[in-house]
Amino acid sequence: MQRKTQAKFIVFEGIDGSGSSTQAELLYQYFQRQKIPAVLSPEPSNGIIGNLVRETLRQRLRFTTDPTQLNRQLAYLFAGDRHDHLYNEIDGVFKQLAAGIQVITTRYYFSSLAYNASNAAEYEFIYRLNQDFPNPDLVFYFDLPVEVALERVQRRSHQEIYETKTKLTQVRQNYQQIFQTYPGNWQQLDATQPPETIHQKILQTIADYFVTAPESGSD
Ligand code: TMP
Repeated sequence: MQRKTQAKFIVFEGIDGSGSSTQAELLYQYFQRQKIPAVLSPEPSNGIIGNLVRETLRQRLRFTTDPTQLNRQLAYLFAGDRHDHLYNEIDGVFKQLAAGIQVITTRYYFSSLAYNASNAAEYEFIYRLNQDFPNPDLVFYFDLPVEVALERVQRRSHQEIYETKTKLTQVRQNYQQIFQTYPGNWQQLDATQPPETIHQKILQTIADYFVTAPESGSD
């Protein structure tokens, strides 16, 4: 019997080096093998604003040297990119979902809350900026000790402005706080585990979570 799956918006979150992009890719490949239409759609996005953000993170583009203002500028850029990523009518998230395509996104507004606020007042600012973005159907949060994360990112060819011990320690704490009170569907995964073990857990959650129904007219 053929089955049909309702399109879902699935988000992967975690500190740099937590392996969330690798796992998103593995889920995407799984959907492909199952012939379930899906897209991998990261934030920062591959659109114009997303590219501006990436250039700023790599410090190829520098708007200000004031750390608070830099955080705010990035927060505005991330929010603008997010709006484009969700609502643009060419290939935005909602366009894909309406076409029955699963959307797998690495990072969403949780990243803005976790990364772009350096104190309570800035957190409030970021929260307000992002409060109208809808919750995804499901979030996978990859938890990883900062020391392990740093070892992993230092092996990469380029480093970004947030990849320091102090910053990632704060980001991890922020994530833990955010998910303590997050009312939507989410699952924490231990990112020190082998990639295949994590992937199997994700597949189990997807199987439990996805509502599948017999395709009408088929047997
Ligand atoms: P990436 O490593 O997943 O490509 O993400 C790039 C960086 O952007 C990562 O350090 C987290 C950061 N980021 C924010 O600071 N705020 C955001 O809203 C998003 C989406 C990412």
